[in-house]
Parts: sequence; structure tokens; C-alpha cells
Amino acid sequence: VGAASSPELIDWSKVRAPVAAQADDAAVARARSGSHGADVTDGPADSAAGGGPGAMLRRRASLLRCPADGALRQDLLRKVAVVKLNGGLGSRMGCWGPKSTLEVREGLTFLDLAARQVEWLNATYNADVPLVLMNSFQTHDDTVRVLGRYATHDITVHCVLQSCFPRLDEATMLPIPTAPFCPADRALWYPPGHGDVWRTLSRSGVLAELLSEGREWLFVSNVDNLGATVDLRILHALAAGELDREGIDFAMEVTPKTKQDRQGGVLVEYGGRPMLAETAQAPEHMRASLESLRTFRMHNTNNLWASARRVQELVEAGELQPPVMVDRREVEGIRAVQLETTAGAAIASFRRAVGIEVGRSRFLPVKSTSDLLAIQSNLFDVRHGALLVSGARQVASPPVVRLGPEFTRLRDYAVRFAAGLPDMVELDHLTVSGDVLFGRDVKLRGTVIIVANEGSRIDIPDGAVLENKVVTGNLRI
Ligand code: UTP
Repeated sequence: VGAASSPELIDWSKVRAPVAAQADDAAVARARSGSHGADVTDGPADSAAGGGPGAMLRRRASLLRCPADGALRQDLLRKVAVVKLNGGLGSRMGCWGPKSTLEVREGLTFLDLAARQVEWLNATYNADVPLVLMNSFQTHDDTVRVLGRYATHDITVHCVLQSCFPRLDEATMLPIPTAPFCPADRALWYPPGHGDVWRTLSRSGVLAELLSEGREWLFVSNVDNLGATVDLRILHALAAGELDREGIDFAMEVTPKTKQDRQGGVLVEYGGRPMLAETAQAPEHMRASLESLRTFRMHNTNNLWASARRVQELVEAGELQPPVMVDRREVEGIRAVQLETTAGAAIASFRRAVGIEVGRSRFLPVKSTSDLLAIQSNLFDVRHGALLVSGARQVASPPVVRLGPEFTRLRDYAVRFAAGLPDMVELDHLTVSGDVLFGRDVKLRGTVIIVANEGSRIDIPDGAVLENKVVTGNLRI
């Protein structure tokens, strides 16, 4: 653990891509037989299969389907708590409030949709899965306001508040604020990354409460990932010891990387153990291969399953010390440094941890307005708070969407699509850049590229159908 927890101490020449075990034919056959009915909590059927007991990387498709036995499912759900990481602001989209309070679909925010997912599970299986939100000083008040709607609903919500750290002056490495936290000086403070979740759960007493209720598993995910639903297939495999006879205490859902996910963490093997390698933390010579789509392919979705008891033990023993990442930025004219940790890096601290390869449908993060356009459009249907690729779409995978800097900020995005979002159900690829405004009832099909040249503007007229089209220049109709 010590060796893996500090990037400077890692011998990067020994970092390898994790090897998936050989296909376990019996398990694959059982999983594919479909003898147990699938539903939304089973997720879509993945085509890939493989994995065997003891492997560091397993495929979800090789796990047994969770039997369609109501009592068994209810029993499994008694053992789990849903934890949403909700301390971030979504600053990449220029959000001033919490990203989770943005309205995504039908007037519902990320928080509403997360609550609906849990309410649906509870109603369907007569269960009482609690929803735990890890907030920060930046998100707590707005979150509590949205959650007020659920006071009369049949759902238990716990809010825990993560730490608040002072930013450091890069020149002196001393804290910039000279007094304790006060809201007027909030720019001088920061929440130290989602790696804070394990300590926060423990420190708040909520982890002890969950353990006393018999919760064995924490399912942790980003609040903006609407694909991160409780997957009964994975929960069943964890609870039944299917992944490892001696029992797994941590599982990270990973998915094959695409060009969109160059940044972020990849699952690697180091010294025979799994480790999360963050591009930002790696030395210069390693970055290209960590970012490549070939060598290190397994991208962290941040859907994490952790043994609640083991988290408590590790935190109490001071053994959950994820590597610290250094972030530099300018704050009120001062070159500032902040130190952050990530939740997934904890994988190196657990005794028996695995990666589980899942399909893209479990990883729908919203980091940019390009991501937001996709999930707000008719590409997805909302079902019980979860997003499913629209049944009207011929291919299962969502299209590639690239909006230029003129769309980066939420305010600009809202203006450019003020007349309504285009129909994107038959879209494969969309690139838009420059001063472009969309009209009402626009349809985009195939590959569409719209580029307004410097100093010119393109207005896409109401009712336009753009199919395999490149639109450039200056167009006002
Ligand atoms: P990211 O680090 O990907 O960032 O957070 P973000 O907050 O979504 O967006 P930007 O970078 O500000 O644009 C992944 C998840 O972790 C949570 C976020 O709320 C998000 O759900 N998070 C992040 C925390 O809970 N605490 C933190 O300190 C940071």
C-alpha cells in the first residue's frame, strides 16, 4: 500500500495493463443462457465475456445474472447503500452552483434522477436502500434545498459534508486564508477531491450507522453519471463470492477507453496488484501510453463497490491514504496550489480488489456541454431515473458530439439552443464550432459538421434536416 500510494515511489517501468483471465466458459454459458429474466437493474446484455476466479479484471458479461427471485433481490438490496459524489461544481461548464442541481430532463435535476433511481428500486423490491450524498461547502445548501422535495417521499437520504481545505500560496506553500473559513472568503478554500469520501463517511458517523443496519456494500459513483444504477448482477456476484472465493472487498467498474476519455484514471497492475494510474500524476514519459487507446485501455468509470466494513477498518487504521495530486491555479491573483485525492485510488489499499469491465451504458458522465447535449436530447429515454439509449436509435452506442468553445459555458449553450434541442436519434457524429444558433425542430442525421468562420454566424433554420452535411461560412436564412 505504501509503495503504491505515492507517485514518486512508483517504479513506472513495472506498471502493466491488467490481464483479464481466460474465458470461463461455464460461467459465460450460464450468463448467456438468460435463464433468469433481465430487467433494468440487470443492465443491457454485453457481448464480450471472459474472466475466471482470482482474476484482476473480470467482465460483467461473464457474471451470473442475478436470479429473478424477489426475496433474494430484496435481501441483496438490504446490504447496499448508494453513495453519490456531489462535492463538485462543474466548473468546466462554468457552473456557479452544484452541477447536480442542473435540470437535465423533464424539469428534473441530477439529484432528482438519482433519488428516482433509488425510489424505484425500493418500490419494486420492497427495499429500503438509502441514498447518501457527499456534499462540499460549495454544494451543500443548494443540495439540501432540492432534497426538501423528498421529505415526504419514502426514501432515506443522508447528507455528509466533506472537508474544506485552504488553498496554498505556491511561493511560500503556506495557507492563503489567514482566518478560519468564512463564506466571503470561499474562493480561498476548496473541497479536496472525491478521495475524501471514505474518511468523510467514517468521520460523519454515517458509515457506522449503515453498518449497524447491516449494509455490507457501498456503491459509490459520480452524481453526474446517470448510467451508474445499482446493478444487481454485480451486487449478486460480490455478495455470493463469485468473483473470488475468498471474497472481494473492492471493485472498480472500468470500460474500454474512447478518444473522449484521454484524461482521467486507468486501471493498471503494479506489483501483482491493481492500481489506479491518473494521467496527471504520472511522469511525463508515461503520459502518452496512459492516454493511448491501446496499451492502457481500462478507463475508471468511478462506479466503485466497496466493503463497508473494510472501509471502516482501513480508515480507522489510517491505512486509506490515496496518492495526493497537485493542482495549480490562479486564485485572486495569487498562484495557488491545491492537493486532491481520488476515490478510485483507494483500490490499492484493499486486500482483494478487482476491475469489472462494463459497457458504456454504465458510464455517461457529464463533464462538458457536449456531454450535456447528448443526455438532454432524444438520444436517451429516461426510465426510473436512469438513462437508456432511445429505442428509436438503430445503433446502441451514442454519437460523438463536439461543441466548440462558443458552447462551453452553460449560459452560451442555453442561448444557442434556446429554440429547442435538435433531434439526434439518427446522429453518428456532430462537430459544431463558431457562432452557431439552432432553430426549432432541427434534425441531425449521420455525420454533421457545422463551422461558422471567424466573424460570421450560422443560423440553422427552424425545421432544417441536416444529413451527412458540412455547413461552413456565413448562413442566415
Ligand atoms: P470531477 O473531478 O470529475 O469534477 O468530479 P466535476 O466536479 O464533475 O467537474 P469540474 O471538474 O468542476 O468541471 C467527479 C465527481 O466527484 C464529485 C463531483 O461532484 C462529481 O460527481 N466531487 C469532486 C466531489 O464529491 N468532491 C470533490 O472534491 C470533487
